[in-house]
Amino acid sequence: MSYNEIKAAYTAAGQDHVFTFYDQLSSEEQSTFLAQLKSIDPHRITNIAKTVLAPEISNESIISVGPEITPLPDSATASLFTASADQIVDWKKKGTALIAENAVAVVLLAGGQGTRLGSTAPKGCFDIGLPSHKSLFALQAERILSLQKVVAHSTGSGKVTIPWYIMTSGPTRAPTQAFFQQHSYFGLEEENIIFFEQGVLPCIDNAGKIMLETKSKVAVAPDGNGGIYRALTEAGVLKDLKKRGIRHLHAYCVDNCLVRMADPVFLGFAASRNVSVATKSVPKRNPTENVGLIVSKDNHPAVIEYSEISDEMAHRTVASVEGTSALAFRTANIVNHYYSLAYLETIPTWRENYLPYHVAKKKIPCIDLSSGETLTPSTPNGIKLEQFIFDCFPQLNMSEFANLEVSRDDEFSPLKNKAGTVGEDDADSSRADLMKQGKRWLLASGAHVPESILGVEVPPLLSYAGENLEWTKGLTFDTEKEISK
Ligand code: UTP
Repeated sequence: MSYNEIKAAYTAAGQDHVFTFYDQLSSEEQSTFLAQLKSIDPHRITNIAKTVLAPEISNESIISVGPEITPLPDSATASLFTASADQIVDWKKKGTALIAENAVAVVLLAGGQGTRLGSTAPKGCFDIGLPSHKSLFALQAERILSLQKVVAHSTGSGKVTIPWYIMTSGPTRAPTQAFFQQHSYFGLEEENIIFFEQGVLPCIDNAGKIMLETKSKVAVAPDGNGGIYRALTEAGVLKDLKKRGIRHLHAYCVDNCLVRMADPVFLGFAASRNVSVATKSVPKRNPTENVGLIVSKDNHPAVIEYSEISDEMAHRTVASVEGTSALAFRTANIVNHYYSLAYLETIPTWRENYLPYHVAKKKIPCIDLSSGETLTPSTPNGIKLEQFIFDCFPQLNMSEFANLEVSRDDEFSPLKNKAGTVGEDDADSSRADLMKQGKRWLLASGAHVPESILGVEVPPLLSYAGENLEWTKGLTFDTEKEISK
């Protein structure tokens, strides 16, 4: 495409302001800039902008027609709180068998910029302050190693491999790869860690115009964790999965220190129901907790914002099996997803047109078009366009979907905020939750841990989910230090 063709496309899309400083650029800058402009479809951006900036009033009129939002039907749910011990053992056996067949992979969402946490390094490199000072990436790598070992041992199979597909983005790719290299891939085989990159989208201002980061560069940002679907196809991941014989995947967020990657119970649950997609949820803490909810929307699975249900619905209760009451809408979304490969292979038929774009109002450093000065805003001045990973759920029939309720204490403690700012979901809560779990595991194994000890660090290499700690029976752990055998 020549300069004239590129300029004509931007002009036709109402985005030719990006050429404001073009004549002032060196020829080298011009060619880099043109290469970036060529990689963007200005019509697509203008159309997305029109949709996301459509007046509120039209949204209200849609809402007033009203989708029917109900809790997921019983047929699509199960809970670790109420399932029988035999049932859980059965799921675990099925999931373990799939892992032993080398038919399972994990996909990590690690393309986010972690703006609330405010660390310059990717979130996975973060040290949550454990006695061992292990990073989130290290904990996750050890959990894969541990599970591979547990499965190989319990099934007597030969080599068990759980490939780890790591989705990064422009800002996180290089530092993430360097971190893994620096730590010798945490003991995993390099060829079984596959990095791939999600896409970026231009940032737009409040009038839908593409923003410039410099006179010769469009401001771009990762396209949200929903960018995974496009990236899986475009980065060749689906082909690689097929080649390796993978049939079941577990996708999860980088910031959950308790995540049970490739959890055999979850995999067995999803596979035995033969669904396309399954989710894990935790019980919502209280009616007003600000979490997304997994629900039925017009009889299709969907994730909605906490604000999309009425106060009455948020407070509604149902009788639980124990005779107490539980919130009717309690399926808090923790972005732990199971996918069948067969489902992911349908992406090329739906990804372009299906997922909506969401507006994230952010502070975006940019060039002021009239003065040419660089602006560093202190309040949000523009929009990052994001797709959400769960926005494909509504295309599923309820029979193709299932949700498993799990314990928050055991499986979910997100790292979102800088410690000392919001007071929750930060490094302090992550560390405390992981160590309290270690203490619970030790006590359940017959070890002694004084009450005065908040928690104990049990490395994932010693135990994936509380198993293999019989050797601690009768031992006393009276410091919070990482235990070793
Ligand atoms: P969040 O939405 O919490 O974003 O991501 P974040 O980047 O971690 O933090 P903030 O909002 O900027 O403070 C949830 C998960 O989705 C991934 C993140 O890496 C995290 O695992 N994610 C998010 C992506 O992979 N790509 C994106 O574009 C955005």
